[in-house]
Amino acid sequence: MAKLVAMVGGGLATLTPVAAGVWMSLDPLRRKSAAATFLPIADVSSVPDDGMPRQFPVIADRTDAWTGFAAEPIGAVYLRREAGSDTVQAFTATCPHAGCFIELDQRDRCFRCPCHNSSFTLDGGIVSPSPSPRAMDTLECEVRDGRVSVKWENFYSGIEAKEARP
Ligand code: FES
Repeated sequence: MAKLVAMVGGGLATLTPVAAGVWMSLDPLRRKSAAATFLPIADVSSVPDDGMPRQFPVIADRTDAWTGFAAEPIGAVYLRREAGSDTVQAFTATCPHAGCFIELDQRDRCFRCPCHNSSFTLDGGIVSPSPSPRAMDTLECEVRDGRVSVKWENFYSGIEAKEARP
């Protein structure tokens, strides 16, 4: 009987640290992605209703494998309101062509991507000819208690369909 207890005790003493090691090594795979969650962006009052988009950083907690970073910039969005409208439009600042950062050209009242010269209208439509296969990617947006939140997603670039990355 003593031998059996010793064997069980020894087995548990051996397996527990091994199981803990396996559990920790799989930690990044167990974590939920921050993708496709609504993230607070700005006060609606900081998006003037003049039809001109404004750029805002997207801030969220980020995890890189086993390391966590609190309140890090993970991207950027453009928010826009038409004159006299409470409705906010949101676009990701990532170009659908190859992922460069889209810039706002205030003088010519359009968006431009500096990498391969794609152009977009202020409401995100594509200006032909542009190498981008689609218009700017819109993001779901909600305004609650004076705060704008967007459903943050990344999309595949270089294809005609707007397809969210997992
Ligand atoms: S990445 Fe924007 S035009 Fe190519």
